[in-house]
Amino acid sequence: MTMPETEPAGAVEARIRVALARVIDPEIRRPITELDMIGAVVVDAGAATVDLKLTIIGCPAADTIERDVSQAVASVPGVRSTTVAVSVMSREERTALTEKLRGGRPKTLQFGPESLTRIYAVTSGKGGVGKSTLTANLAVALAARGLRVGIVDADVFGFSIPGILGIDGVKPTQVNDMILPPVAHDVKVISIGMFVPSPSPGQAAQNTAVSWRGPMLHRTIQQFLTDVYFGDLDILLLDLPPGTGDVAISIGQLLPQSEVLVVTTPQPAAAEVAERSGLVARQTGQRVIGVIENMAGLAQPDGSILQLFGSGGGADAAARLSTDDQPVPLLASIPLSVPLREGGDAGEPVVLAHPEDPAAAAILALAATLAVRERGLAGRKLGLSVS
Ligand SMILES: Nc1ncnc2c1ncn2[C@@H]1O[C@H](COP(=O)(O)OP(=O)(O)O)[C@@H](O)[C@H]1O
Ligand SMILES: [Mg+2]
Repeated sequence: MTMPETEPAGAVEARIRVALARVIDPEIRRPITELDMIGAVVVDAGAATVDLKLTIIGCPAADTIERDVSQAVASVPGVRSTTVAVSVMSREERTALTEKLRGGRPKTLQFGPESLTRIYAVTSGKGGVGKSTLTANLAVALAARGLRVGIVDADVFGFSIPGILGIDGVKPTQVNDMILPPVAHDVKVISIGMFVPSPSPGQAAQNTAVSWRGPMLHRTIQQFLTDVYFGDLDILLLDLPPGTGDVAISIGQLLPQSEVLVVTTPQPAAAEVAERSGLVARQTGQRVIGVIENMAGLAQPDGSILQLFGSGGGADAAARLSTDDQPVPLLASIPLSVPLREGGDAGEPVVLAHPEDPAAAAILALAATLAVRERGLAGRKLGLSVS
């Protein structure tokens, strides 16, 4: 493309910087220009050279960023050839970046009382009822609606979120003492599974978990909430381990404003167990906002419904958890679904892969309900006290 002879010096460079402002860092999810990743931009007779400073050596997003930068520069009128000179930020530059990301605030717990993020803890009395599967699919469904969503996999003993979201083995990038959560299907995810050195994460969890005690669990979750850079989120989902133990209490202390979703199967006995996890959440000051029934009736080819796990457990748990001033609704009933299970095994969430599946449809409807919910006030300090 021929440019007008009269173009002022630096015009092409300026256009390049504008184009680079559209390149988003895939992990931090902000324009690379805001992150001070672009150094000198020089154009000599149409030959552009751009200095790109990555946060760390071997950053997994490096190839993507370099390619995006190269494409952005090449698309600028007046550029005939592009060279991207890649280097790595100095420690000082990294410190400046992490401070900028924290908005100048000292390093503290994210999602404090002033945070606008809605936080949902997904709990149940027992394992295997589908908490992780639902958490992952719900997160993806909410992100697909354009919300900024994160997941903290707080099931340190039996983490499974990375597998369900297809990011098994992916390690977070660390910038000084700031951890950048990997992004899967537009959801920022952090899990203890990402820090366990083993080719077989599930197994390692079993092995390392044995020595884990309450205080260490608490510190791990606290560190997730302090060191992991989530940025501004609309919704944070917490996948809790089964039962009513230490992690639930830690969440109650660290994130008292979090609201609780109780998962149960349709079995009457399961409703009782689910109720207990809801009651513990209440004791730690959290509000139970609803029950999700999972593994409900499976439609058969002849049109009949196979109630493998009985029926009524969800409504039963909701009724038991309801009080006069805090009714607890049954928010969704998710049927048994082979595609849902297969999607979890394959790391391809069913809400994206097969949105027409009845279980996917029920989760998408639940996401639609949660997306428009106002943030709860439970656990928030109201009034003038500053502490
Ligand atoms: N609605 C469902 N239909 C079929 N399989 C399901 C359903 N919900 C969960 N599962 C499967 O049940 C197993 C346990 O689910 P998981 O989410 O790991 O439970 P939890 O986190 O409560 O322990 C997984 O193999 C999952 O794929
Ligand atoms: Mg689980």
